[in-house]
Amino acid sequence: MDKIIVEGGRRLEGEVRISGAKNAALPIMAATLLARGAYTLRNVPSLVDVRTMGEMLRVLGAGVEHHDHSITIDTTGCEAREAPYELVKQMRASICVLGPILARHGVARVSLPGGCAWGPRPVDFHIRAMETLGAKVTLEHGYIVAECERLKGATIHFDTPSVGATENAMMAASLAEGTTTIENAAREPEIGALAGFLRSMGARITGDGTDRIVIDGVDELFAADVEIIPDRIEAGTFMVAAAITGGDVLITGMRTDHCSAVIGKLKETGAEITEEGGGLRVKGPVWARSVNVTTAPYPGFPTDMQAQFMALMSVADSTAVITDTIYADRFAHVPELKRLGARIRVDRNVGVVNGVKRLSGARVMATDLRASAALILAGLVAEGETHVSRVYHIDRGYEKIEKKLAELGARIRRERE
Ligand code: EPZ
Repeated sequence: MDKIIVEGGRRLEGEVRISGAKNAALPIMAATLLARGAYTLRNVPSLVDVRTMGEMLRVLGAGVEHHDHSITIDTTGCEAREAPYELVKQMRASICVLGPILARHGVARVSLPGGCAWGPRPVDFHIRAMETLGAKVTLEHGYIVAECERLKGATIHFDTPSVGATENAMMAASLAEGTTTIENAAREPEIGALAGFLRSMGARITGDGTDRIVIDGVDELFAADVEIIPDRIEAGTFMVAAAITGGDVLITGMRTDHCSAVIGKLKETGAEITEEGGGLRVKGPVWARSVNVTTAPYPGFPTDMQAQFMALMSVADSTAVITDTIYADRFAHVPELKRLGARIRVDRNVGVVNGVKRLSGARVMATDLRASAALILAGLVAEGETHVSRVYHIDRGYEKIEKKLAELGARIRRERE
């Protein structure tokens, strides 16, 4: 296992380019199961989760070749119907092969996911969506078994917006007979990216980006190429890196319109954020103001930025209340931030952060993808060295984060643990 060692105290300066979005690439890779043929995906981030999804497609019979930042996928030989536990347990997003396999083959066996470190992460919305489209779904020996000769369009209503379930429903409905309406759909940019890719494959989808998506099912789809959108969470993470170090960083290759909530909150903390050459220049405040944050489905403040923002609030000027309305207990980073000297009290899904003047470096442990990022961000300003262990978590969702930070002036290195 690797660890990342950060020496605090350096202002970040310079330019960083954002990679393609993990959470757009994964469902788009799953969507290639909807039609036989050869696909080229460009601007794909080089991440563990992307390779895991590639492995999943191979197990299902596809040819998958990773090149620098593109992937070629050939699904001509995809006949398999089963997504095995060994792969699904590594990555919850694998559940997104359920809709495509079911729609293409009339039967799908997908292992129940393992989920991340925080709380159980159910898939009931996914299952109910497939049943609403006419599938018979049973749970057998830890597998979701879904069967339906031909899915039928219907109205699917989600109690709360779900990114993955909206993606699964959209993909399955693309090949269903008749029209499907998804109500209370997720509105994340990754949903729009998937819908755009499906349209380029011949799907008839409107309303993506709103809470009501309408899909007119077609009999067949066709392979297409796609460029993956930039990663708005990586962009937000680097914005916080500039803010927490009082730095001056130009972030390029990002979609600023996908980051409005994070930009707005960081401006409230006193960061100076201006558009520059298609990117964003972020100048950190001398001392961040404490600002309350409540996460919400897009376009609200993303839960995937909650941990990173908490790191910034740990060294802000008074008290910040951070509420996560998406996940009840996504606070595994709190005990580790407290080892660095942060003063945080958690009560159910609310973290109260009393900012301190200074953090001090320590050995800490990453517990999940965004918690790892938060610990590295805190390490950038903690006195002395911070050793973040179990960085395999961070490699799932950030491409060469220590290299990108080092190029901005951070004293950061990776070592074998
Ligand atoms: C996606 O996960 C993202 N992952 C997550 O990012 C992100 O945190 C999450 O959306 C919320 O924005 C990918 O896109 C690969 P949800 P997903 O279904 O689709 C509940 C990262 O850091 N729910 O939108 O799994 C669920 O428990 C990852 O990149 C059900 O109750 O999330 C949660 O409270 C972490 N039943 C809420 O809905 C279901 O069947 C939103 O979850 C499904 C979800």
